[in-house]
Amino acid sequence: MIETFLMERMQSTYENVVDFDLSESGVRPVTLREMVDFGFDLDALMDSPLGYSQSNGTIELRERIAAMYPGSTINHVEVTNGTSEANYILALTLIRAGDSVALQIPNYLQLWGVPRSLGATVERFQLERVDGSWEIDWDSFERAVTPKTRFVYITNPNNPTGSVLSREAMKRIVARVEEVGAYLIADEVYQGAEIDGERTPSFWGMSDRVIVTSGLSKAYGIPGVRIGWMVGPPEIIASCWTQHDYITICPNKISDHIARVAVSPDVRKQLYARTRAVLRENLPMLRSWAAEMGDFFEYTPPTAGAIVFMKYNSDAKSIAMCERILKEQSTLVVPGLHCGVESYIRVWLGAKPEYLQGGLARLRTGLAPLVGAGV
Ligand SMILES: Cc1ncc(COP(=O)(O)O)c(C=O)c1O
Repeated sequence: MIETFLMERMQSTYENVVDFDLSESGVRPVTLREMVDFGFDLDALMDSPLGYSQSNGTIELRERIAAMYPGSTINHVEVTNGTSEANYILALTLIRAGDSVALQIPNYLQLWGVPRSLGATVERFQLERVDGSWEIDWDSFERAVTPKTRFVYITNPNNPTGSVLSREAMKRIVARVEEVGAYLIADEVYQGAEIDGERTPSFWGMSDRVIVTSGLSKAYGIPGVRIGWMVGPPEIIASCWTQHDYITICPNKISDHIARVAVSPDVRKQLYARTRAVLRENLPMLRSWAAEMGDFFEYTPPTAGAIVFMKYNSDAKSIAMCERILKEQSTLVVPGLHCGVESYIRVWLGAKPEYLQGGLARLRTGLAPLVGAGV
């Protein structure tokens, strides 16, 4: 038995039927025509037989992915159906019943449900907002990461806070992982979606206990082609390939073609620039919207990613509140509890400005009974 993935279920149930979906987390997606403008040869694909693709990703795509991770080769890379399949296969490959997994909270909670379904326990460690900046609570980290820990799962840049770990924090995490003989799964799917700052450093290369997962869904703005990957020690990647053969056999052939274009150095840069432009345009709108509600929200704007995680000044429960707003305002946002913490909402920043404006106006109407009421 596996428990319901509450955030994904709420999104997939409502995202296509509401007036305003502010529950997404990547920038608004690139079109196929834009990919053609970026160099994707649609015409050549017309004559390509729609057969199976290579099950661990074509050599050409793995070469291009390996080129992004210094020191890696195609044998360090497995291409998957989205980052989520990479995370899932890693959990299936690594976990044995009785293991422990250490999970950063708040987070994308895929690796809350999956390890528990495989008989592992999940220990949480916290990112805390200290003086406006999200930092790891090291006491909870030391408690959560022990010799029983099979792997630590971190998202960096983080979903939902949009925060990025310091180099010192990264080193401390890796040192502890090595000390206890665990692995680190560093989900870096938001890397490249930095709004102003420099590119988020990768955990890749810091230790041979590091496995990076990523994909096209967020910073690249191409979630619909469902291409992700993992990069790790060849023996782990080989075992993951075995799992992959049983699950989905291979990534979609057309998607593999699109991904080869997307990850090529020139196109990648342009896609990141597109993402940055969307976020830079939209963040000021969200800031003024929040400011109009006085001290109702406390939040730190994201360093990277199309999401803002906002603490609200009310004792309303986040799931009930978001369900009410969904019903009354036909507007969907993610309740904090779906990311592991109460009294927050996660709001999407990646829409077209007029759509974001419309959604925020509805959200404001939905929040009106709470604003000014205090806790
Ligand atoms: C941290 C993180 N990892 C993985 C995923 C799923 O990504 P994909 O669409 O590549 O499967 C998400 C989606 O929100 C995410 O936030």
